[in-house]
Amino acid sequence: MAEERENCGLQHVAIIMDGNGRWAKKRFLPRNAGHAQGSRVVEQICEDAYNLGIKYLTIYAFSTENWTRPKEEVDALMDLLRKYMKTSLERSKKNNMRVRVIGDVSRLDADLQESIRELEQSSANNTGLFFQVAINYGGRDEILRAAKKLAQDAAKGKVSPEQLTQEQFYRYFDTADIPYPDLLIRTSGEKRLSNFLPWQLAYSEFYFTDVLWPDFNKKELQKAIAYYNSRDRRFGGI
Ligand code: FPP
Repeated sequence: MAEERENCGLQHVAIIMDGNGRWAKKRFLPRNAGHAQGSRVVEQICEDAYNLGIKYLTIYAFSTENWTRPKEEVDALMDLLRKYMKTSLERSKKNNMRVRVIGDVSRLDADLQESIRELEQSSANNTGLFFQVAINYGGRDEILRAAKKLAQDAAKGKVSPEQLTQEQFYRYFDTADIPYPDLLIRTSGEKRLSNFLPWQLAYSEFYFTDVLWPDFNKKELQKAIAYYNSRDRRFGGI
């Protein structure tokens, strides 16, 4: 894989994978068929992203708000994630991919938590794509969890609230050692952040496409990258 790598000029891409339900509906299929196709696309996009020169990829698989979906759909999504953790044990070895889960995993079933731990541990020393899967993730929840940990350290005298910097606060985040995304992609025409990485995306470029996630592919990723490369990032300067 390494010898084919291009240099697309950006390091970290975050993706809100939207439109699975509509993709299935258009084909008279159950919504879960859309999620199943969406998870196959995830596997392919990991390879494509790495080959295009992307080092970090972070995807929104299940939000803190997704629990309000019908139980059947939540169960189907959890089963897909279960399957993903298991099949990724082998694939991450082959692809040299490091997988981590961000979000509050404590609410997930014990067996899924165990599969996540196993995959994270077995892939921890891989040096290819650094892949983050957000599960039971919410940006406000992440900030609140970070603030709680910080308050505990402050009470123990380990940090001084007066001297706290953004960099120090960021160390309490799930993505602590990961650079902020350069680019956010959201599929299916919606133009919302939906509580995804609000702190980390503060200065990122946003790319929206009408393509539904199960139809997303390398060509679409290249379009998003071309959009990014056409932008002039000023970070509040001129
Ligand atoms: C949004 O589409 C998608 C989700 C809420 C789930 C995303 C999950 C996957 C792609 C599969 C699982 C991931 C892995 C890593 C195995 P939607 O259901 O809101 O679609 P709609 O807006 O068209 O109804």
